Amino acid sequence: MELEVTRFLNLNELSTAAADLVLKLAEESVRERDAFNWSISGGGTPKKLFELLAAQPYKERMPWDKVHLFWVDERCVPDDHPDSNFNMAAASMISKVPLITQNVRAILAGLTPHDDVAKGYEGLMRADFGMEEAQGGFPEFDLILLGIGPDGHTASLFPDSAALEEKTRWVVAVPAPPLSPAVPRITMTLPAINNAGNVAFLVSGDGKKEVVDAILDDREKAAENYPAARVNPSGALHWFIDSEST
Ligand code: 6PG
Repeated sequence: MELEVTRFLNLNELSTAAADLVLKLAEESVRERDAFNWSISGGGTPKKLFELLAAQPYKERMPWDKVHLFWVDERCVPDDHPDSNFNMAAASMISKVPLITQNVRAILAGLTPHDDVAKGYEGLMRADFGMEEAQGGFPEFDLILLGIGPDGHTASLFPDSAALEEKTRWVVAVPAPPLSPAVPRITMTLPAINNAGNVAFLVSGDGKKEVVDAILDDREKAAENYPAARVNPSGALHWFIDSEST
């Protein structure tokens, strides 16, 4: 694994650098495979990045018609709910750029039962990646964007969660965590995340410094407590850190 840690003056500078990385990887992926398979997280940090990508110069340079957009995780709420990760991405980016509708793979997390939603989403991914369940293996996303919480969670993989031990499924449902929004979630699993060509943590916000420092100092030791420390992709791992808050 190639590791790159960059600290930025503030969230604006971090988001601009992240937009440059998204554009670079999108252009490379489209040159190589005529598609950019990209999975995004929610929360608040990526909002500025999404807004930048939906404005010039990124808007006209991104190969939107070749982007296959997935979600790393979703809260189990309707997709027009304020807590919906889809809703945030739709308002800040998707509604403003010429993505091809059928390539925007939202997690329909407002439906139940949640395990069926997870299985259905994995089925969508498998169809897009041309990988039947029987053949095993994991999708290779060109880029997966992750955030991190003060408890060291990433995606919707929370400390002590049984989902952390999942070895074969790409997507699972998890119960409501002890933090807001305290609703059940749908999340990609670690083996699916770790098979990506590139993973980028976007880190901004209070209370994360201790966790991030612990992971960067000793990832294996930190993995005992912090799920984000278990992100160890076969490709490149980028840490984009906002020094103003972390
Ligand atoms: C979610 C996210 C989650 C998020 C972190 C950081 O659905 O909440 O996927 O993993 O990335 O909680 O969130 P902030 O960017 O809001 O700090």
